[in-house]
Amino acid sequence: MMKYICLIFCFFALGYMSVEAQAKTALINGTSFTDNEGKVINAHGGGFLKVGNYYYWIGENRKQGVFVSCYRSKDLMNWEFRGDLLTRQSHPELDSANIERPKVIYNLKTKQFVMWMHYEYGRDYSYARAAIATSSDIEKPFTFVKSFRPFGNMSRDCTLYKDQDGSAYFFSSARENYDMMLYKLTDDYTDVKKQIATLWPGGHREAPALVKRGKYYFLMTSGCTGWAPNQAMYAFSKSISGPWSELKNIANSTAFDSQSTFILPLVGNKTTSYLYVGDRWDGKQYFKSGYIFLPLTFENDSTMTLNWRDKISIDVKTGKAK
Ligand code: GAL
Repeated sequence: MMKYICLIFCFFALGYMSVEAQAKTALINGTSFTDNEGKVINAHGGGFLKVGNYYYWIGENRKQGVFVSCYRSKDLMNWEFRGDLLTRQSHPELDSANIERPKVIYNLKTKQFVMWMHYEYGRDYSYARAAIATSSDIEKPFTFVKSFRPFGNMSRDCTLYKDQDGSAYFFSSARENYDMMLYKLTDDYTDVKKQIATLWPGGHREAPALVKRGKYYFLMTSGCTGWAPNQAMYAFSKSISGPWSELKNIANSTAFDSQSTFILPLVGNKTTSYLYVGDRWDGKQYFKSGYIFLPLTFENDSTMTLNWRDKISIDVKTGKAK
């Protein structure tokens, strides 16, 4: 009898240990991260938002018939696949579409999650439109609303930002990516209300990622060299509508072989970290593209720096990332 009890105990203990052993305590930068089933995470050009106890990571998935996938995590290192939010079947306008850089924010008044993204139809990038989809459940398929050019402007690489007062903004590369447009959204976040600014006209910037720290907003962008990495730059401003500072270099000349997609504030009980999230693209073998999570550092209120680390450990409780 004792022998059997021992065997059963060992069986459960080993099972527990193997689950424990699989839990990641660090992420290896530049690799294609895997989820808790060991599958490659497909959430490129993605964004993050916290709902309840979970961080959600929503991004591009180029698997046949899929556009946007959803993952969740309690610690930002161990991710669970939760489903595909937009697929070819979601809407007739998506049958031959190409979706990039989806970002999601929550509208408190309409109780809807609202996704904005870069929409193309067919193989090239000539449509240059924004598109919108909504859902009442972050983990459930989104309903495609429409694709359009905001105020008639081309719209390619983009990001979405919800400010502390509930106002939301859409940044997108326009005029063949020469200008970075900034739009204020309508109260329900499903349309543009006003074109607020043309940032760095002729500056040729894309891959926008915005965060607010203290008195300043920081906007990170890349140059326009397709899948090839280039010098990342940032600017700061006390007001989202500007005036924005000149662009300044950040990280190394290839942004550590990555392109910005998001800056995630990690608010803990000891500190707040600001995580740069970038894609290390493999344009030839898209599914081999990797990710980079690096803590941004600030030398003073308006000086932001980014240093390389081979790996990162994140403590969501304290807010420390190292
Ligand atoms: C990049 C852009 C990506 C993708 C790629 C295609 O510049 O940031 O989102 O569009 O070009 O070449």
